[in-house]
Amino acid sequence: MEYCKPPSLTKTSKEEIKEYFLRTYKVYEELFELLVSDEVFYERPEPLRHPLIFYFGHTAVFFSNKLRLAKLLETPIDPELESICAVGVDEMSWDDLNSEHYDWPSVEKVRRYRKEVENRVVELIEKLPLELPITWQSPWWPILMGIEHERIHLETSSVLIRQLDPGLVRPHPKWGPIAPIGAAAPANELLEVSGAQVQLGLGSWSEIHGFYGWDNEFGQEVIEVEDFLASKYLVSNAQFLEFVEAGGYEREEYWEEEGKEWLRYAKPRHPVFWIEEDGEYRLRLIDRVIDLPLAWPVEVNYHEAKAFCNYLGAKEGLAITLPSEAQWYRLYAQSEVQDANIELRHYFSPCAVDRFRHGEFYDVMGNVWQWTRTPIYPFAGFSPHPLYDDFSLPTFDDRHNIIKGGSFISTGNEALPWSRYAFRRHFFQHAGFRYVVGQSERRKSQSYESDEAISQYCDFHYGQAPFDLPNFPATLAKRAASYCTNFQKALDIGCSVGRASFELAPFFEEVIGLDFSARFIMVADRLQREGVFGYRTPTEGELGQIRTIEMECFDFTPFAHRCRFFQADACNLKPLYKDFDLVLALNLIDRLYDPASFLRTIGDRMRPDGILMIASPYSWSEEYTPKEWWLGGLEKDGKESFEGLREILERDFELIDRFDQPFAIKESRRKYQHTLSDVSVWKKR
Ligand SMILES: [Fe+2]
Repeated sequence: MEYCKPPSLTKTSKEEIKEYFLRTYKVYEELFELLVSDEVFYERPEPLRHPLIFYFGHTAVFFSNKLRLAKLLETPIDPELESICAVGVDEMSWDDLNSEHYDWPSVEKVRRYRKEVENRVVELIEKLPLELPITWQSPWWPILMGIEHERIHLETSSVLIRQLDPGLVRPHPKWGPIAPIGAAAPANELLEVSGAQVQLGLGSWSEIHGFYGWDNEFGQEVIEVEDFLASKYLVSNAQFLEFVEAGGYEREEYWEEEGKEWLRYAKPRHPVFWIEEDGEYRLRLIDRVIDLPLAWPVEVNYHEAKAFCNYLGAKEGLAITLPSEAQWYRLYAQSEVQDANIELRHYFSPCAVDRFRHGEFYDVMGNVWQWTRTPIYPFAGFSPHPLYDDFSLPTFDDRHNIIKGGSFISTGNEALPWSRYAFRRHFFQHAGFRYVVGQSERRKSQSYESDEAISQYCDFHYGQAPFDLPNFPATLAKRAASYCTNFQKALDIGCSVGRASFELAPFFEEVIGLDFSARFIMVADRLQREGVFGYRTPTEGELGQIRTIEMECFDFTPFAHRCRFFQADACNLKPLYKDFDLVLALNLIDRLYDPASFLRTIGDRMRPDGILMIASPYSWSEEYTPKEWWLGGLEKDGKESFEGLREILERDFELIDRFDQPFAIKESRRKYQHTLSDVSVWKKR
């Protein structure tokens, strides 16, 4: 079995990184040798995902794309392939199923491409000087990122292969053996876990760390966990069989709302990897089908795990639920994890739940992942990595739950206890669960944001405006709504930390807030979910003051759930952002790289009679906008920016109002930037 540990960021060598890369790359290719023929690459084992050929190309394309973004590669290696295999649809739900058609490349073409990428990466590793420690700004970070990304796909592709028709795969000598079937399943029991204060997160990304980590692992959170009980073993197939036989899949009372929706869509009668044959259950593994090993852990999605907890709780008269992320860490702290069914060390399959003992408990790490009840969220101080800013951010939506512990095929970062992965609740991984009784815990929000731009904007949006000025985003949002006649959907583009979006929420059924900066979106998102956000504002010199935004204090709060925040590029918006009755663009256009293209196309996204409000002080800067794309303010023709704006908008819009709106952004206690924004209001023809 091949696996190796991730390199230490403080002690590694070029040789070690090269070896880690080559082994990862090779083992990923070997996974596809389980397919009986090249035709199988075009199968789509899971209707919500791309066919396997995409994933075969994707991990190589990822290297090329990220290395280019990091300016370590100059040109694309195969532009066409690199666009087809760039973005996965790993995270689709049945309600946003994508029906796009692709011209998938031949397997041979992808194999040649993979070889070419391999050579380029090795060349790069050989020529790039290595400075230790490797930090997240280091040119070596994207190389490690590519490797860890491939290791994630090693696991997720093995799940996809496990969902193929069994006739399309075969055992392969490079993969194996599977675990012994084991004896009867042990009876599960509840054991005590002591409560304590749990510190989550690796701390600031800018510090020196031991291993590569994904952005969501950094930052910090303190949670006070009370004593609880946890099941000694993962739930076995035998234990879950009781639920199946008690009609668990037919009895909606055990299922959460979202779980019921999934039941109606997928119509399951038993766990997805179980196969019913003549009244007996068999188990689908990655490369074969065997009689159902009753002592192995059951593998299910979150909904099934949660329904089982509700069933067992009703039966036993206990408040049984899934552990939280913090509770899992208490369990880990109280266990002694040495060997485990992880990193392909032992088996190419799960194994009996009583095979690996970790102190009083079993399988605290390894065997199969363990679902938690915690939807993933950013720790305080989170920042997306600039080379992969859509890794975690799209999952901070309360629809992705954290899984802990790793599985038999988790390697690299995945096999570290502090790694943090989350999947949609209906998704399948090699994942099962253990259950707990007692869920009391408190999040201690002592943390605050000290990033200067974020603090300034928090103050600008939610603080007391100076010089008796009205609050800028609040005033303009309310005024914008007053021009509208339809109130279904509003867009706040360049929404920053979200005040105007929240102000629109009482008026509109749906408000979308978009911003280019993930860090700003994160604040809005956090306010919406948690109701508080702390930041530090400078007073003078090194001194500062901690401020807290409390959503309770605002009138819009009962409507805040109508807002949704996403990261987006205003000059290249996805087609799904459309049909707006109001578009608000406050202090945005002079920060766009191509303001004209934004203005030319925004009308297409609006309903007839829709209102567009643009506010801008026209403070153009080449830092944001190339001079030839400024709307005005150039010596060559002396044209004012509003004229440039009018020329573009007049085709689709009628100007219905125009006024000045002052605002002040606080730099320190005694210094402000006082600005006058030109506000123009346009009605779509
Ligand atoms: Fe990926």
